[in-house]
Amino acid sequence: MKNKSLVSINDYSKEEQLSILDLAREFEKNPVQDILKDNVIASLFFEPSTRTRLSFESAVNRLGGKIVGFSEASNTSVKKGESLRDTILTVANYSDLIVMRNPVEGSARFASEISPVPIINAGDGANQHPTQTLLDLYSIRKTQGTLDNLHVAMVGDLKYGRTIHSLVIALCNYNTTFHLVSPVELKLPSSVKMHIKEKKLAYHQYTEVEDVIPHADVLYMTRIQRERFSDPLEYERIKNSYNLEYEMIKKTKDNFRVLHPLPRVNEINIDVDKSPKAYYFEQALNGVFVRQALISSILGLK
Ligand code: CP
Repeated sequence: MKNKSLVSINDYSKEEQLSILDLAREFEKNPVQDILKDNVIASLFFEPSTRTRLSFESAVNRLGGKIVGFSEASNTSVKKGESLRDTILTVANYSDLIVMRNPVEGSARFASEISPVPIINAGDGANQHPTQTLLDLYSIRKTQGTLDNLHVAMVGDLKYGRTIHSLVIALCNYNTTFHLVSPVELKLPSSVKMHIKEKKLAYHQYTEVEDVIPHADVLYMTRIQRERFSDPLEYERIKNSYNLEYEMIKKTKDNFRVLHPLPRVNEINIDVDKSPKAYYFEQALNGVFVRQALISSILGLK
């Protein structure tokens, strides 16, 4: 994976993805090391973020590296009209690797094609979020003991949720049975469903979360993505479609876990947090180890 950009989850083979997960397990045992002391990582966030940006920063800091960048473009020369091309070509002079989140679908691919240093896509619009997928796979393997033959229920905004798109594609490598729960307006796009069909995997579509809870090993909740709606009234109409409560998951299988890429809005009641089956904050922690593994692999340090 040395010098290999990660834009879409399929840019890395199943074996490469698993090698990142294995390395992340080593970083989880020993997260403070000095291996990045000669490296500068650029973190360019054109869209808001808490977990992705800060877990990348935490990952770099714990490995002794330096990080430069911005958390919003409004106080950079983008404000003066600088193109993404010029921003990337400039920042590549200052860094060994660029992590970028941008609201435009395809922007990370474009950046990877012109950049002399590798690009990690930290989310491009409603398209993909491959580093989230690596930490989701890590979290699923850690809680289930395997990635194979699981029943994974995905709930919420399957249309605009980039974490969903990348995760569905990755899970197609593991004989997953998909339970897809969304309002009818927010079904999984056919371009993503195509990956399930190509692998001839089972998938079922629902509108009610109660219908999938008894079947699921993993319940992957997501928020309705307000920022992707062109019609605010449409968002208002469906924003409260789901609200998972503690009582709803009390009788689930022992291995059942609730995951969520976060942030949550109101699709998981905070009373779920007290359940030992709520895993979303540990999931966010796993992002540090997975991103340590990814950065050190791309830089050829591990
Ligand atoms: N999961 C995720 O991408 O969260 P942030 O938007 O806070 O980075």
